[in-house]
Amino acid sequence: MKLLVTGGCGFIGANFIRRVLARHPDWSIINLDKLTYAGNRLNLLDLEASEPRYVFVQGDINDRSLVMDVLAGHGIDAVVNFAAESHVDRSIDDPSPFVATNVQGAQNLLECARQSKVGRFVHISTDEVYGALGPTGKFTETTPLAPNSPYSASKAGADLMCRAYFETYGFPVLVTRCSNNYGPYQFPEKLIPLMYLNAKADKPLPVYGDGLNVRDWIYVDDHCQGVELVLLKGREGRAYNFGGNAEEANINVVRTMLAILGKPESLITHVTDRPGHDRRYAMDFSLAAEELGFAPTVDFATGLRRTVQWYEANGAWLDKVQSGEYRTFMDRWYEERTR
Ligand code: NAD
Ligand code: DAU
Repeated sequence: MKLLVTGGCGFIGANFIRRVLARHPDWSIINLDKLTYAGNRLNLLDLEASEPRYVFVQGDINDRSLVMDVLAGHGIDAVVNFAAESHVDRSIDDPSPFVATNVQGAQNLLECARQSKVGRFVHISTDEVYGALGPTGKFTETTPLAPNSPYSASKAGADLMCRAYFETYGFPVLVTRCSNNYGPYQFPEKLIPLMYLNAKADKPLPVYGDGLNVRDWIYVDDHCQGVELVLLKGREGRAYNFGGNAEEANINVVRTMLAILGKPESLITHVTDRPGHDRRYAMDFSLAAEELGFAPTVDFATGLRRTVQWYEANGAWLDKVQSGEYRTFMDRWYEERTR
């Protein structure tokens, strides 16, 4: 199979490419990535040097002629769309790039793939399209979409466009909706790698609000397992939930990180809450379990230790990915929250 993976230089895309190349010797992958501040060619540089089944193309999913050329030139059988602006805080700061990539870019990719008669299109959506839960219950695939942030609204827009391409054109689209990922290569703007970085530097760990917001954590390779199963066995036109069965309040995640690193809890600093902060996410993934045989394999305690070990062994990666643009945004964002 010849796959076009978009956004493969980001966190989940890079893990997905490594997983499927290792597991499918007859598959080859074209990775189309714009290399935004969050995309790092470094993540897969070893494959560029050593793996003939892997080709990197720098470009934007909004670039119609480039996408058409890639689809035709490489005889692509299936597309997996990871490319997105992915950070909720940045979407609050400026929603525009989120609409440009997550909505318009996804539609452009769908249209190019439809015109090119691509046989399967897997779109990576998120649990955030469902909005927020109260203290009980879980999201199922029939929970109404009710996004609360510009990020999740843009993801819901693409998610619905996928539905429309299936219903209107019979185009073979499948959607995945997963909860919070963590693991190797996660960019240090997200909770877990940011808390690792700050704790290592003995800097304050900024916890939004009371720290009791709950996320359902999934180790990144388990999400990649879900995407692979959807690609291989999912039913066209369907959306599939994925989660880790690991609900944790943010404050507990941060305390566990400090305990692993042997750092004091006095580093925790409660800062002004994220506007529109969803209180709780939890995923019912029984559809994926029953239809696809999906099951998360890494529990949160093991996964978090493994993730910390990866960051400990990859300090040079962490240094290199922190561009000037990254530092400028982070300094301004957190300075505004501690005033
Ligand atoms: P990321 O920010 O680490 O990576 C995104 C990648 O997309 C980067 O390599 C970036 O350069 C690329 N990109 C951005 N705009 C592009 C464009 N216009 N054209 C081509 N490439 C572009 O994100 P991630 O955490 O790996 O998330 C990947 C996908 O999974 C996203 O669609 C996200 O919404 C979804 N998702 C993420 C999580 C999570 O916990 N991280 C959970 C569920 C779903
Ligand atoms: O649920 C899936 C989503 O998970 C994905 O769709 C998004 O792409 C991904 O970024 C992630 O979104 P979150 O907003 O949940 O992730 P983040 O790591 O930004 O925050 C996790 C929780 O930690 C959230 O409740 C906000 C809180 N937080 C985050 C940061 C960065 C803090 O308390 N302090 C922080 O500094």
